[in-house]
Amino acid sequence: MSSVMQKLLTPVASGPAEPPRNKVTVVGVGMVGMACAVSVLLRDLADELALVDVMEDKLKGELMDLQHGSLFLKTSKIVADKDYAVTANSRIVVVSAGVRQQEGESRLNLVQRNVNIFKHIIPEIVKHSPNCTLIVVSNPVDVLTYVTWKLSGLPKHRVIGSGTNLDSARFRFLMAERLGIHASSFNGWVLGEHGDTSVPVWSGVNVAGVNLQKLNPEFGLDGDKEDWKATHKAVVDSAYEVIKLKGYTNWAIGLSVADLTESIIKNMSRIHPVSTMVKDMYGIGEEVFLSLPCVLNSNGVGSVINMTLTDAEVGQLKKSADTLWGIQKDLKDI
Ligand SMILES: *[C@@H]1O[C@H](CO)[C@@H](O)[C@H](O)[C@H]1NC(C)=O
Ligand SMILES: *[C@@H]1O[C@H](CO)[C@@H](O)[C@H](O)[C@H]1NC(C)=O
Ligand SMILES: *[C@@H]1O[C@H](CO)[C@@H](O)[C@H](O)[C@H]1NC(C)=O
Repeated sequence: MSSVMQKLLTPVASGPAEPPRNKVTVVGVGMVGMACAVSVLLRDLADELALVDVMEDKLKGELMDLQHGSLFLKTSKIVADKDYAVTANSRIVVVSAGVRQQEGESRLNLVQRNVNIFKHIIPEIVKHSPNCTLIVVSNPVDVLTYVTWKLSGLPKHRVIGSGTNLDSARFRFLMAERLGIHASSFNGWVLGEHGDTSVPVWSGVNVAGVNLQKLNPEFGLDGDKEDWKATHKAVVDSAYEVIKLKGYTNWAIGLSVADLTESIIKNMSRIHPVSTMVKDMYGIGEEVFLSLPCVLNSNGVGSVINMTLTDAEVGQLKKSADTLWGIQKDLKDI
């Protein structure tokens, strides 16, 4: 007796199925990881999505919940396991795993705890997807991108930190809102270290090619009557504010990671502010990762834009580099 399937379907193609071409893996299924996963799914970027975590029940629950939405998605295969074999043949692996800072914990201690976790994760990823591009999201993102680069053995163009991509998005949204225009029409870049010491490039801010510093020479400086500088402070404060209100941030980082994923998967050569290895740029002598405008294509970081920064802006970048190296040089076992 043949089965319903055998009666229904006449096989035409034979042989093994082709491997996926645009597989995306998300490591860590917390709030941030799941926002990245859902954003990638809703934008139809992947032909396969894999999730990995050590919390097996949570992982299985998230997998089932997403699979039940298959009718409304165009990513036909969604898989999950604690074993990294499930990630094989990924083009892009988003790393959102790691622990958060505890009250009173030093930054170095937090980083070292995450190094110990990454020491297990990163080699497993690379073993199963030797040609992938890694997007590191876990914080402190610039240091952990360096750690990932070291642990992975991958070339520097294949290891990217989400960096100031989100800071820039927040900046553009808040600045554009003051002008009553859409964020995509406000051209401004926040570079350097993700978080408190990020560098807004006031000298380059423009709308439709009109440089705003030409309209107001005080633009972005202390003493400006319009106090545009406050908007960058609002960017820095906004993460803390959202965390205070809802406990974590996830939607905007998820959407921004999907945007990076799209540029890489579709080989678009769009430019994003992401964390990349900056040794030998702007007089930086150490191996640190900081955000600069990067051309993202199927190679990962294709090139870095050589910005025309003011001396003060270069000084701020160097200061961040020194801070990061101060932490990195004391890390053990990488
Ligand atoms: C990785 O890329 C190299 C060079 O393009 C290729 O020879 C190799 O088969 C690829 N490996 C995998 C596992 O896809
Ligand atoms: C990606 O785009 C670049 C520049 O347009 C092109 O030279 C390259 O061949 C493309 N790569 C792939 C894999 O399509
Ligand atoms: C970037 O541009 C500056 C100023 O034009 C120049 O001095 C510097 O050498 C350039 N850097 C690279 C890597 O080409």
